[in-house]
Amino acid sequence: MKSIQRVICFLLLFSGSVGFSPAFAEPDLGQKLFKEKNCALCHNIHNPGTVFAPMCPGLQGVRNRHSKDWIRKWLKNPARVWATNDADVQDINARYFRYRGSKPKQRESFMATIIGKKVVLTDDEIEALIDYLWKL
Ligand code: HEC
Repeated sequence: MKSIQRVICFLLLFSGSVGFSPAFAEPDLGQKLFKEKNCALCHNIHNPGTVFAPMCPGLQGVRNRHSKDWIRKWLKNPARVWATNDADVQDINARYFRYRGSKPKQRESFMATIIGKKVVLTDDEIEALIDYLWKL
C-alpha cells in the first residue's frame, strides 16, 4: 500500500514538473515581475500603432530593436546606458521625437530620471523579464 502511495505521489510530482497539469503550472515569472517592479505603470505592451504612448515606448516587438545584452545593461543602469548615446539610445530618441513630431534633441532618460536607482533587479529577475519581453 505504501509503495502505491509513493508511486502516485511520484506521478503527481512528475506530471507537475513537466507541465502536464495546468494546476501545477508556474505563473510566468517575467510577467509577474513586470507588474511587481512597476514596469507596467509606464509601459504599454500592446501598442503596435504607436511606439510612444504617449511618453514611454510600448514594448511589443522590443526584441527587434535591441539585443538581450543591451537590455541587460539598460535594466541594470539606464542612466549609464543613456549617457553613452549609443545607436540604441539614438534610435529610442529618434522614435520619441518622431512621435512628438519635432526635431530630435538631447534630453534626459525619463526611465532613469523617474525610477533612478529604485528598481534594483537581480540578474535572475533581469533574465526572467527579458524572457517575457522576448515573447511580446
Ligand atoms: C517611470 C516610467 C518607466 C518605468 C517604471 C520603466 N520604464 Fe522602461 N522606459 C521608460 C521610458 C520613458 C523609456 C524610453 C527611454 C527614456 O526616456 O528613458 C523606456 C525604455 C525602455 C526600454 C527600451 C524600449 C524601446 O522600445 O526601445 C525597455 C526594454 C524598458 N524600458 C523596459 C523596462 C522594464 C523591464 C521596466 C521595469 C523593470 C521598466 N522599463 C520600467 C519608462 C519607464
